[in-house]
Parts: sequence; structure tokens; C-alpha cells
Amino acid sequence: MTSKSVCLLLTFVYVVAFVESVDIGKMEKGEIVPDVIDKIPSEVLKVIYPSGASVELGNELTPTQVKDEPITVNWTADPNTFYTVAMVDPDAPSREDPKLREVLHWLVGNVKGGDVENGEVIAGYRGSGPPQGTGLHRYVFLVYQQNGKIDFKEKKIDSRSREGRLNFSIRKFAVNYSLGQPVAGNYYQAQFDDYVPILQSQTIQ
Ligand SMILES: *[C@@H]1O[C@H](CO)[C@@H](O)[C@H](O)[C@H]1NC(C)=O
Ligand SMILES: *[C@@H]1O[C@H](CO)[C@@H](O)[C@H](O)[C@H]1NC(C)=O
Ligand SMILES: *[C@@H]1O[C@H](CO)[C@@H](O)[C@H](O)[C@H]1NC(C)=O
Repeated sequence: MTSKSVCLLLTFVYVVAFVESVDIGKMEKGEIVPDVIDKIPSEVLKVIYPSGASVELGNELTPTQVKDEPITVNWTADPNTFYTVAMVDPDAPSREDPKLREVLHWLVGNVKGGDVENGEVIAGYRGSGPPQGTGLHRYVFLVYQQNGKIDFKEKKIDSRSREGRLNFSIRKFAVNYSLGQPVAGNYYQAQFDDYVPILQSQTIQ
């Protein structure tokens, strides 16, 4: 390789790394640090819904667009490693007055090599249901790398149930199971739309 091509290559690597870090830095601007986690993960988690909507570091989606479990949740996963995937809303009942922080929307443990579909569902996926007049809520996805398979003690939560979802803390959960800091993350924002009353009407206690 000539020194010119090495120089071009290094410039390219630098630009790619820079763009990636600017992107993930939006989690910091969105105050995911310190509201939910202590350190920005190094990778942007790819999340796509069956509606076609994708999560783009703070973009606004509607409760209608995110009502069903994502079809793609992708990160650079080691095939022989277990991970925990979580989604939380720190803005309950509102970002201004988050006294119920956090609401647990989704929690899947023992995900081997990125295969979320075959992980152990601790809390079934529940879409966004921000109450009317509470503004935009942040919905944060995080992936933690486990240090082997975990024997989770939590009572399983049905998708339609709200029980055990309020006043959750993914930070404390991560401490409880020695998960360290997340390796990938992303978030979107959503406010009330006419799907929210439908979601509420399907709720069992
Ligand atoms: C998932 O991410 C990996 C690593 O970034 C990539 O190689 C792979 O193509 C992605 N898969 C999908 C389905 O997006
Ligand atoms: C959540 O925390 C708030 C304030 O800390 C408390 O008033 C409320 O009873 C708790 N709710 C649940 C369901 O644990
Ligand atoms: C962490 O463990 C403590 C002690 O077992 C428990 O009371 C608490 O609910 C756990 N917190 C989370 C968020 O899992």
C-alpha cells in the first residue's frame, strides 16, 4: 500500500468512527445519561418495528407505530455469549414529574448470540402508552452482556399486565445481576395518540 492510500484509509476509518460517536452521543443529549444509565454504550442498537418504523436516537414515533414487538433488534453479538435486552420509559407519568420512573416495557434475558426471539421473556413486550397531556416520553432500549447464563428470580410479567412494571430501575437490575454497563442502546420518543386507550383497555392487572 502506498502512503497515500494508507492516509486515505485512516481518514475513512476516522470519519466512520466519528460519525458513529456523534450519533450515539445523542443518547447523552437526550439525558439518557444520567436519567437511566451512567455511561453511553459504544454501539447503536438497531430496532425496527413490524409497522416499518425504526428507532433513530430520539426520533418521534407514535404509539400506533410501536404497538407490536420489534421484528429486528440487532447489535454486534458474539454467538456464544448471553445478553439481556431491556426497554424502559423513565418519563412516567411525565418527563417533568417522573415519580413512577421507570416503567418496564420489555425485558428478555439469556439471549444467546443476539437471538432475542428465543431468549427468556421476563416481561413481555408492552408498547408505549403515554397518558394524554403528559408530553413526549423517552423509550430506551439497552443491551447488556451477561457473564454466562443467569437464573433470573423475577416473576414473569405478561404483555397485557402492568403489575411489576412501575418504579422499575434497569440500573438496579443490572447491579443485581452483575451486568455492568450496556453494550448497545437506542431510544425513541412518543406521546399520546388514539391507540393508547386501546392499549389500556387490553390491560389485565
Ligand atoms: C446485524 O448487525 C451485524 C453487525 O453490525 C450485521 O453484520 C448484520 O448484517 C445485521 N443483521 C441485520 C439483520 O440487520
Ligand atoms: C412508586 O414510587 C412512588 C414514589 O416513590 C410511590 O408513591 C408509589 O407507591 C410506588 N408505586 C408502586 C406501584 O410501587
Ligand atoms: C434488586 O434486588 C433487590 C434485593 O433482592 C430487590 O429488592 C430489587 O427489587 C431488585 N431490583 C431490581 C430492579 O431488579
